[in-house]
Amino acid sequence: MASSLAVCRLNMKARGSLLKFLQKVDTFVHRTIGTNVVAAQEEREGCKSLYAVEAERQEQAERSVLISCHSRTNEKKFLNFLSRHGDINKYFFYESYGMYALVEFTNQESLSSLFEAAAIPSVSHESIVPFKSRLLSLRNLGSMESPNHQVGQQCQLQTSIPINKLIQRLSREESIDQQITSLTDVYQLTEENSRLRFLVCSLLKDIAAAYFPESTIKAFGSSVNGFGKLGCDLDMFLDLDGISEKCAKMPRSGLWLEYQMKQAISERAVTQSILSVIGDCVDQFGPGCVGVQKILNARCPLVRFTHQPSGFQCDLTANNRVAIKSTELLYLYGELDPRVRHLVFTVRCWARAHGITSSIPGAWITNFSLTVMVLFFLQRRSPPIIPTLDNLRDLAGPTDKSVIEGNDCTFVSDFSKIHLQSNTETLEKLLCEFFEFYATFAFNKMSISIRKGKELNKPEMAPLHIQNPFESSLNVSKNVNVTQLDRFVAVCQESSWLLQQKETSTPNEGKAPTPWGLAALLMPSKVAGIKGRKKRRREPASERIKSLLESLKTTN
Ligand code: GTP
Ligand code: MG
Repeated sequence: MASSLAVCRLNMKARGSLLKFLQKVDTFVHRTIGTNVVAAQEEREGCKSLYAVEAERQEQAERSVLISCHSRTNEKKFLNFLSRHGDINKYFFYESYGMYALVEFTNQESLSSLFEAAAIPSVSHESIVPFKSRLLSLRNLGSMESPNHQVGQQCQLQTSIPINKLIQRLSREESIDQQITSLTDVYQLTEENSRLRFLVCSLLKDIAAAYFPESTIKAFGSSVNGFGKLGCDLDMFLDLDGISEKCAKMPRSGLWLEYQMKQAISERAVTQSILSVIGDCVDQFGPGCVGVQKILNARCPLVRFTHQPSGFQCDLTANNRVAIKSTELLYLYGELDPRVRHLVFTVRCWARAHGITSSIPGAWITNFSLTVMVLFFLQRRSPPIIPTLDNLRDLAGPTDKSVIEGNDCTFVSDFSKIHLQSNTETLEKLLCEFFEFYATFAFNKMSISIRKGKELNKPEMAPLHIQNPFESSLNVSKNVNVTQLDRFVAVCQESSWLLQQKETSTPNEGKAPTPWGLAALLMPSKVAGIKGRKKRRREPASERIKSLLESLKTTN
């Protein structure tokens, strides 16, 4: 009967990201912040490339299934039942439009056994679409329910806590540095959420395989770059390179066979037609995929849909290699120094709380642009916390060479070649300086370039100019209008001022602690009066503090 139950139960509360999966970052976090540069270098040498992490995650996902079950399902019976098909390596329960379990078997053969035993659902009035996938439902004729060992109590939503709860939590911390690390802990993707994301890619791959058996689907963007917040969208990329590469194999002489293939007028046209059919396939045959929209005329054509069993908003693209490279680059920067991720999380969260970023497309600054702004700021510290993209390119080896559509996307992948300078600034100092830096930045004249790590003259008159790291003639923030930039600058000024007030935690017996430090910064009502103070926009916060002190002296 049951094979040995090698179940390693995942604690749903355990926080950790893709990085935590490698069990390195936590020690790294504590050892690096401004203390032990040698230890940090050693840790960095042990870091896996994004490519290696993804390969491991993909392999896990291939051995996994997603099972819809009742919230009163008895966990022990459920596991006993499944382990008839083989050892279970990991599993966890979560809620998304009902209760689900992600189950990872130790061997892929277990899936075949599971599928053989699975039944086809019987429907009375409608017809079923005969597409089998690794999304299953647990049915029960006997009693699987019991008051003990029910999964309902251990389930957690795969979304982040509401901002008011976050503010309460941060208010209880003792320093701004602790508030910043705590925010990252709460918001970053959990181990479980990362697994779920790779499983959804793997399920999508099975659908795409109906047309392109050799294709793979890769996650990119914040799901894998280390800056993902629970609840962020799942950006996916249909990778057909495996197919094109085979076409490139040409013998030098003699006979050979080649595939007959249709030709289209442009690569964009090919991408559009592929996404169009995959979009239809997802819409009509993909279990759990709803609200499919084909947005094929966008600069980067995509298929958008909701994957209900995971709750993810999914964007599927194809032929989007530069975005993959940007993802690798962001991941690398995030791995170099823990302060990078902490600051990016904090700034992203702050920006969202103040409506500087939005989930709706428009003239807002995007999370990607904001991340590049944080990276640029960290390159401008003295000494710099992270190297420029040109530095990273100079360290690249022959296998790192990458040219995409004529753009040089080469940068080093071996972390051990990167030697950082010793900068010991605290997170509090950096956050404060970030606001000060952008409150006084010459946006009217200068462009932000992480490739050069310095301000460049603005080549065009867009209000905000952030050079695209790999396509240097492009501006990643060209959608941003003057109003939005002004709002960003104004909120930076106010936030810088608020942070310099040196407020601290005040115990509030029996009541929720008063928001202070970062917690206060996340409250738009605290960072108030922005419109009224707009005229003083270019005045540095330190000047305003000086004048405030002067006025206090006069009053006294
Ligand atoms: P959230 O989804 O907001 O959490 O962040 P994200 O980083 O995933 O951003 P988004 O989903 O908008 O984009 C996904 C990825 O596409 C980013 O991480 C970048 O790698 C890339 N990307 C997005 N916008 C741009 C852009 O304007 N230029 C370039 N080169 N890449 C971009
Ligand atoms: Mg995204």
